[in-house]
Amino acid sequence: AEQTFIMIKPDGVQRGLVGEIISRFEKKGFYLKGLKLITVDRPFAERHYSDLSAKPFFNGLVEYIISGPVVAMVWEGKGVVATGRKLIGATNPLASEPGTIRGDFAIDIGRNVIHGSDSVESATKEIALWFPEGPANWQSSLHSWIYE
Ligand code: GTP
Ligand code: MG
Repeated sequence: AEQTFIMIKPDGVQRGLVGEIISRFEKKGFYLKGLKLITVDRPFAERHYSDLSAKPFFNGLVEYIISGPVVAMVWEGKGVVATGRKLIGATNPLASEPGTIRGDFAIDIGRNVIHGSDSVESATKEIALWFPEGPANWQSSLHSWIYE
């Protein structure tokens, strides 16, 4: 089944949004397959966002991500990469629709609470980076009540 990497950024942890965010993914019908609270160092954050290393905001972005613990997660389910991004909302929270996580809980692009992989390919890379031990293996007994 499709999996994605979701990270609650340090501002989301500091602001007590962890439960709310996990709840939205759970209620939608996605399955939690990996979870850890972790403070990453600069080289690790630079690796995670290596595609953005040429951007003028790269240093600030790395500073932000290493500024406190993050909640790193693997979520699984049909269409979870694209639909996870829909639950999260547009990158700039002032442009994110209300009802999305960023639309409901954030203002500035540099404090946008949450990360989600942008493609199945990125998800595979990011899960390997953050969960070298591999995600958990369990199946929900409610599966057939959610998936036809
Ligand atoms: P992620 O899920 O965090 O990867 O966000 P995204 O995929 O919606 O956006 P993108 O990958 O392009 O950028 C990664 C992160 O860099 C964003 O979530 C922002 O926190 C930050 N960022 C992106 N663009 C800007 C910008 O123009 N200014 C600032 N200050 N930060 C930015
Ligand atoms: Mg991105």
